[in-house]
Amino acid sequence: MEGEEPAAIPKESSAGLRACWHPVMYAHDVGRAPTATLLLDEPLVLWRDSAGAAHAFRDVCVHRGTALSLGAVEGDEIVCAYHGWRYGADGACTAIPQLADSRRVPARARAVAHRCAERYGLVWVALEEPRWPLPDVPELDDPRWRVVRTGPFSWRTDASRQVENFTDFGHFAFVHRGLLGDPARPVVAAHEVITDGPVLRYRYGRPDQPNTDAFPVYAAGERADETRRTHYALHLPYTIVEHIDWGGRDGMVYFFASQPVSADRCVGYCLVARNYNLDQPDQVMQDFERTIFAQDQRVVESQRPERVPVDLAAELHLTFDAVAVAYRRAMRAHGLA
Ligand code: FES
Ligand SMILES: [Fe+2]
Repeated sequence: MEGEEPAAIPKESSAGLRACWHPVMYAHDVGRAPTATLLLDEPLVLWRDSAGAAHAFRDVCVHRGTALSLGAVEGDEIVCAYHGWRYGADGACTAIPQLADSRRVPARARAVAHRCAERYGLVWVALEEPRWPLPDVPELDDPRWRVVRTGPFSWRTDASRQVENFTDFGHFAFVHRGLLGDPARPVVAAHEVITDGPVLRYRYGRPDQPNTDAFPVYAAGERADETRRTHYALHLPYTIVEHIDWGGRDGMVYFFASQPVSADRCVGYCLVARNYNLDQPDQVMQDFERTIFAQDQRVVESQRPERVPVDLAAELHLTFDAVAVAYRRAMRAHGLA
């Protein structure tokens, strides 16, 4: 997020996107000290109160527009770095030190407090009343599953491109040869996409790719077949839940969500859960995903336009691009693009 200024998200889609939950940071990266991020061009400050609850305010002090993220948290209040105004968790200013009676605060002295939730080890924010709840993924709360948080992956592109790449079947054999695919087996089998309100559901049997010595991340037990069975639920706009199995009891769950920072910036959070190899250190999966995401990043950052074009005539779609077509239709139908 350094360098040139990020491009702004067009107004037509930002209204719809503001009424959705978005991840804004891994929960373990949000501490007592205020920390800044950007969501849909909106600067946010994230902080925790004394009970550990996370809060997300607009990162602007109503007094002179200073970033609240420069301040500090004291007790259950965030204190502006410039003149020391204090704000409680609901956003109301509680004290103005320059006043003879610092507690005689005008009603307009408020910070903008956004809806903020913590789930699956992520902090989520919705800038308007969210239309849809967060997806339920029981495995992520189940102690029999080991959940590894990988990334975050900051890319110079729109969240829609990062999400679409995560679920693109045609690139595995080319971008991730030897790790996720085999150039000798590039054919993408037919798959049907069912659009269920704001969720696209589809399943796909992928040629399995054996573990590598560097990254023994897949279940290595007995396999019922040569196919990796994947079930996807793409929750609009930018969250994907993918279940993988090999026909036996070993399973994986990928939970991927992209933070729409601006029209050409996003941050991907990729949780990988498994019910086997429970003792493997998290570093193995984190290194694996760092490698995979780096392979994707250079390709996806080169795509133009930076946002997925919802006009189906803008790119060339073939039958194996069923997910991309359904995603564009659904994003448009819901006013998200
Ligand atoms: S700008 Fe924040 S207290 Fe003055
Ligand atoms: Fe990829």
